[in-house]
Amino acid sequence: MHLTNDRYTLGGVDMLSLVEEFGSPLYVYDAATIERQYKRLDTAFAGIEHHIKYACKALTNVNILRFVRQIGAGLDTVSLNELQLGLKAGFEANDIVYTPNNVSFDEVKEAIALGAQLNLDNLPMLEKLGQAYGGSVPVSVRINPHIMAGGNEKISTGHINSKFGISITQVDDIVRVAEKYGLDIAGLHMHTGSEIVDTDIFLQGAQILMEAGRRFKTIRFFDFGGGFKVPYKADDKETNIEELGSRLSALCHEEMKQRGSNFYICLEPGKYLVSEAGMLLARVNVVKQTPATTFAGVDTGLNHLIRPMFYKAYHDITNLSNPHGAVRPFSVAGYICETDNFAWERDIADIREGDVLAFHNAGAYGMMMASNYNSRPRPAEVFIVNGKAHLIRRRETLEDLLRTQILLDMSA
Ligand code: LLP
Repeated sequence: MHLTNDRYTLGGVDMLSLVEEFGSPLYVYDAATIERQYKRLDTAFAGIEHHIKYACKALTNVNILRFVRQIGAGLDTVSLNELQLGLKAGFEANDIVYTPNNVSFDEVKEAIALGAQLNLDNLPMLEKLGQAYGGSVPVSVRINPHIMAGGNEKISTGHINSKFGISITQVDDIVRVAEKYGLDIAGLHMHTGSEIVDTDIFLQGAQILMEAGRRFKTIRFFDFGGGFKVPYKADDKETNIEELGSRLSALCHEEMKQRGSNFYICLEPGKYLVSEAGMLLARVNVVKQTPATTFAGVDTGLNHLIRPMFYKAYHDITNLSNPHGAVRPFSVAGYICETDNFAWERDIADIREGDVLAFHNAGAYGMMMASNYNSRPRPAEVFIVNGKAHLIRRRETLEDLLRTQILLDMSA
């Protein structure tokens, strides 16, 4: 986002004019930022054959999927619908990883029929795969390396109490099932959490994964998951992606020597690709002084961006309407009938009724975690490509809320 002639722009488009044209609240995504992030990651791992699989749970608008496909990414999916959206966006099925958790075997069979690259994370499912398909379907296995990693406990997925993955202590069991059915174990996978800053943590996990991989001759790849941290505010910590790229590549090359065979690696960035590319724009309905603070009440809430309330996540807030206003503390709160504070006593340029605020880092897990709570429709989405703003999802309406409801005949 840039400030030029007193107006904020994103991807060359004036942000206030977006709200005038498409209404508020509004999700806005910038293609150039996604591409910048993709290229940075791609370059950082230039030292090794790598496939970047966008973890599309972060943001699945089909136009975003089409864009990431265009710039060269594959896809990481967790549900049949994500998989279907990927196919609709033009991905080849074998460019789509399917990593379900606690789904039925029927769902796995459908994913196999669609041709996705299967990644399973429990032993009973591997048994079922073997019974039904023998070794005819290549499968990778998600390992839980027992590492505590990530921004907070809610987004940490590779520790001993996590529901994800097959424990690293159960590799013998994987070997046993694989031998019993002649499974084609194509790769091993891990994803230990989101917002991991320390490159040592990734290296530690990779080491554990690759050691386990020595038990499987059929391995063609290791998938190290996502979880790269992006900055949420000025001077915030971020994963040093260049350092990670060179250290991890070196480690993998050593391992190739040790194994005596080559492999490629996969990465599954979600936030890294789309977090900074997205903003949620909202209008201030009320400015209210209380004995405790000054509230700026906006026309959005935990129904549209739940991360601050759910994870205590920090999202920078800019007052687009008053770029040079005197900075003073405001508490920004949503319009939902629950406590849905976005920020408490945050220094922001003077907020007045009618001003438009921008919530930063809203591209990942913003719209995707939105709901219809309080019977509020979900926002529209706009995608900025080559200096032009495109509406890529219209705002929901009352009719949308009623569409799946079935009106009973109460007189009967
Ligand atoms: N791969 C797998 C198997 C995953 O489960 C995830 C995220 C990713 C990759 C991508 O992780 P990322 O690069 O985005 O950190 N809703 C939470 C984040 C939950 C992440 C779930 N899994 C949040 O808003 O912070």
